[in-house]
Amino acid sequence: MKILQIGFSLALTTVVGAAPLALTACPSDTGDGDGDGDGDGDGDGDGDGDGDGDNFDLPTGDAELAPWLEAENYSTWPSESGIHASSGPHGRVMTFINNTLDAALTDNSSDHPVGSAAVKELFNSNDERVGWAVMLKTEDNDAAGDDWYWYLKNGTSVNADGNGASGCTGCHSAGNDFFTTPYPLQ
Ligand code: HEC
Repeated sequence: MKILQIGFSLALTTVVGAAPLALTACPSDTGDGDGDGDGDGDGDGDGDGDGDGDNFDLPTGDAELAPWLEAENYSTWPSESGIHASSGPHGRVMTFINNTLDAALTDNSSDHPVGSAAVKELFNSNDERVGWAVMLKTEDNDAAGDDWYWYLKNGTSVNADGNGASGCTGCHSAGNDFFTTPYPLQ
């Protein structure tokens, strides 16, 4: 078989040689275009949560984050299947996590990559949404929850809006790098 293939490409070369203007471009195109690019793209997915910490899936700060939440930009993220009672102080809840955090948890991470985020919808007893709790890992300094941004809005009041919010980190330090929802999501 090998010999046959070599014979074939020699034959092609000969043809190319015979008509250089018309055919020169074709063999070199075929040689270049063989899909190397795909392999690289897939391989990178896990590795570069650290790469660009500026490019998060969501904004921080009430002024930008509140409208982002109102628009439900997180609605396509992996999520719990429905509203349930919080095992903590959060009332009735439903949690969404972004793909960065989902991939890390799938890999049994205990130090989630920068860019990991969770959005938790908060509901009243009639399951009407009243707000959100949010956490986003903005840096990796392992300092008592300072590397997470915390946000909580309930009705019109914003109860947390910043890194290392003390009303959040104490309880969440019991979690897996501050993430406390059972995983896989239920
Ligand atoms: C007294 C404990 C406690 C405090 C204080 C607390 N939480 Fe939580 N939080 C939990 C528990 C437990 C969960 C797991 C899901 C559930 O049952 O609500 C959770 C879940 C979350 C989630 C979903 C992601 C995850 O970690 O599971 C977010 C986001 C969140 N909390 C944000 C906050 C913010 C922001 C504050 C501070 C304003 C805060 N929490 C304060 C106990 C707490």
